[in-house]
Amino acid sequence: MAVEKTFSIIKPDAVGKNLIGKILQKFEDNDLQIVASKMIHMSKEKAEGFYGIHKDKPFFANLIEFITSGPVIVQVLQGENAIMKNREIMGATNPDDAKEGTIRKSFASSIDENAVHGSDAPETAAVEIAYFFNNDEICERTR
Ligand code: CMP
Repeated sequence: MAVEKTFSIIKPDAVGKNLIGKILQKFEDNDLQIVASKMIHMSKEKAEGFYGIHKDKPFFANLIEFITSGPVIVQVLQGENAIMKNREIMGATNPDDAKEGTIRKSFASSIDENAVHGSDAPETAAVEIAYFFNNDEICERTR
């Protein structure tokens, strides 16, 4: 299995509930390393660019309002099979469908306020990482 990087957001609902540490613990407990991280409050323009793929969906306006409603943590996670591993740790998009022990089952309240985002494939991971981070903000581990 290959070492991969994936993009992750701790969304405004989870940041607002003071769950940053508990969510990071789940990543670290599953051998994902945080190799880049920052707190930002996304502008409407930044959010619309990030979620552009959903622009024709009925939930788009709501999604933009939510993701810009408070600060988020954007981060890059690295590890074996990181993209799929992160998706397993997060659980299903709708917390009602998420397995016990996943982030969304434990911490999300609805499909709209679902605590975390994670890339779904290598191509999207690369695009999403580059949308928020310059190369010099990603810190390869040296020990
Ligand atoms: P995320 O992985 O960040 O990608 C798009 C977000 O849209 C998704 O998580 C959900 O929080 C939100 N969303 C709201 N309604 C839906 C829906 N019906 N299907 C998929 N995503 C939805």
